[in-house]
Amino acid sequence: MKLKLAVLAGDGIGPEVTGEAVKILGAVAELSGHTFEFVPGLIGGVAIAATGTPLPSATLELALEADAVLLGAVGDARYGALPPDKRPEAGLLQIRQALGGFANLRPSVAYAALSENSPLRPEVTEGVDILFVRELLGGLYFGAPRWWDRAETSNGGGEAINTMRYTKAEVVRVARVAFELAGKRRKKVTSVDKANVLEVSQLWRAAVTEVAQEYPSVTLEHQLVDSMAMHLMNTPRNFDVVLTENLFGDILSDEAAVITGSLGMLPSATIGGAVNLYEPVHGSAPDIAGTGKANPLGAILTAAMVLRHSAHLENEAAGLEQTVRQVLAAGHRTADLARSSEAGQTLVSTSEMGKLVHHRLTESIDRRQSLHAV
Ligand code: IPM
Ligand code: MN
Repeated sequence: MKLKLAVLAGDGIGPEVTGEAVKILGAVAELSGHTFEFVPGLIGGVAIAATGTPLPSATLELALEADAVLLGAVGDARYGALPPDKRPEAGLLQIRQALGGFANLRPSVAYAALSENSPLRPEVTEGVDILFVRELLGGLYFGAPRWWDRAETSNGGGEAINTMRYTKAEVVRVARVAFELAGKRRKKVTSVDKANVLEVSQLWRAAVTEVAQEYPSVTLEHQLVDSMAMHLMNTPRNFDVVLTENLFGDILSDEAAVITGSLGMLPSATIGGAVNLYEPVHGSAPDIAGTGKANPLGAILTAAMVLRHSAHLENEAAGLEQTVRQVLAAGHRTADLARSSEAGQTLVSTSEMGKLVHHRLTESIDRRQSLHAV
């Protein structure tokens, strides 16, 4: 199989963590007899610096003709004063829209080796395995009208507006993805909305309830977003697939990072469009960029999602996830995961963590292949 990946490393720690993910994907391709081609492109602040825009047309063309896009992170405080549509983040929103993926999958998993990393008690987080399905192309992020009366604001008054808008068709298509995935998991969908206040949530709830009829083996429950924020911390094991609109999903998926113990561990995949888009959930973390402190495991687990959803190499994807668990179990920790009170831990840099995963993975693939040969 041949797979062409556009690699948009972006800002801050983006290049460091993406570099580790690319090395691992390269190794998997080589060992499993596939060809992965990696083509770099600019996005975010680095693209503004080089071309004046956060999503240059060359990047967009590259992404649209690729089989998948692997993105690092965008965000640079130097451009913080620009209006939203000129900032580095605009590049990300534009590419999401252009690629058309509407279902953003964000797994949130508790790792046994990290049970002391979460402020939640181990008995609360043990065995947690949640898959957020965040709608990615609608709601407040893209709804019109949107504007801010800047001139009036500097005169003491001012008004701004964003619009939370969904069509039924937009809800139905993302709900189907959630139910399909739940059917292959523990068969439960929790749909999150604010139907006690918002019309758009009432539409959301009605549409999701209708889709549920197509999936009789999957249980549907509805939660209001405010109480969901609490249940997620109190009883995270109760959730399997969590389906939400764009902004609620943005907020709740960061909250769910508390279960794993570090935002640096969380991967994501966006599916349903012309080209799948893969990005870790964390941001550009400019404060630690270039220090070797960044955790590459979010990007590496994102690479596992590339293997699963774009290369259709489920065994290799599961093998990579297993390898990450083993490296953690052996006590290796990047700075965000390090706990001085725990014995048997080794503090490692971004690239050392990448190498550890790389070595263990290639060893286990070699071992499997020699078993086959016997
Ligand atoms: C995320 C990020 C983005 C979002 C930003 C950078 C535009 O927070 O992927 O969660 O809000 O979607
Ligand atoms: Mn976010």
